[in-house]
Amino acid sequence: MQASKKPQVKPSQPNFSSGPCAKRPGWDLTRVKQSAHLGRSHRAKDTKYQIKQVISMTRHVLEIPDNYIIGLVPASNTGAFEMAMWNLIGHLPVDIFAWENFGLEWAHDVINQLKIKDYRLISSDYGVLPDLSLLRENSDVCFTWNGTTSGVRVPDANWIPSDREGLVLCDATSAVFGQKVDWIKLDAITFSWQKGMGGEAAHGMLVLSPKAVERLRRYTPDWPLPKIFRLLKNGNLIEGIFSDETINTPSMLCVADALDSLQWIKELGGADSTIARANANFDTLQLWVDQQDWIQNLVEISAHRSNTSVCLKIIDPDFTGLSLNNQWDFIKYFVFLLENEDVAYDIAGHRKAPPGLRIWCGATIEANDLRDLLPWLSWAFKRSKEKFGPFQKL
Ligand SMILES: Cc1ncc(COP(=O)(O)O)c(C=O)c1O
Repeated sequence: MQASKKPQVKPSQPNFSSGPCAKRPGWDLTRVKQSAHLGRSHRAKDTKYQIKQVISMTRHVLEIPDNYIIGLVPASNTGAFEMAMWNLIGHLPVDIFAWENFGLEWAHDVINQLKIKDYRLISSDYGVLPDLSLLRENSDVCFTWNGTTSGVRVPDANWIPSDREGLVLCDATSAVFGQKVDWIKLDAITFSWQKGMGGEAAHGMLVLSPKAVERLRRYTPDWPLPKIFRLLKNGNLIEGIFSDETINTPSMLCVADALDSLQWIKELGGADSTIARANANFDTLQLWVDQQDWIQNLVEISAHRSNTSVCLKIIDPDFTGLSLNNQWDFIKYFVFLLENEDVAYDIAGHRKAPPGLRIWCGATIEANDLRDLLPWLSWAFKRSKEKFGPFQKL
């Protein structure tokens, strides 16, 4: 094998993690600090106005229908999705579609925490979508639009009939701002600021359809709901959560930062523009992958390939011939080489996924940085192969 020559140019920004994701191009903490109401009560007029702006800008850039309500809730996307499940589920049978770590986490809660008796778990291996046609007519559904840990996404929501009685609960955290989410087909949609927006973690967004609000009003789950999950008071929706109030204290620095991202997205031209940026980034990466003989997209069907959390597998026989543990050692060494050069941080696949790489291609990634990363991937592969190749005793 030829000696691996180190590339000359490094990405100007090495953050390719799939969450928290890279800040937006041009992000400046000083600017965020100037607009943040630090040290002020979150119930003050100015701070409430900023929360209101986050909600209205979110609606505007994501084109969320006017009759859907949007709330800022605690505990990032996990908090928002758990809140949706614990409030809404239990009235009807539940179908859970899961194809990677996070979908399986939600399945675990439906089955083992909420103990729903009439459930169906329709799952599949990393890299493939399960059979979505198995959706029952009168069930609530839980699924993850873009499986961040496998790089598999649903291509659309055409598999969900419009006139269903059941609710559709969708974890869309790594999809929004990167993929066109079909709001009308969904009833409870969640995401966080730390993915496509390049915002901060710890706060989640919960979007509810009129049908979901109706369920909230008419159905009371059997289980207790902690204050942090409660959306009703005396049987009435707490409207403030969906206007300019929060259940508990948010970070006003994070709120100002979210607004900064949303402003950037608005100036770009809204979600259509961030989706276009993610598509272009994905195309750059996939085109390069297609030209290599050692690496492939983990997902065979191109319509199911994520354009945000792109998962790649190494197919070189010197890699595939290694034991699972040694494949992970190979990946660890590969990513160490890149981190050590400050070229790419955090691009190892998720620990529950097959050993591989995962590269965020969302809108906050600049196309040039991604392009500059590519030769380094080849370099790291050759260096890792020199270390772990067939002549090495493992
Ligand atoms: C699909 C999906 N669901 C849930 C989560 C958990 O989100 P958070 O850490 O924002 O609570 C993540 C985080 O990566 C994710 O990608």
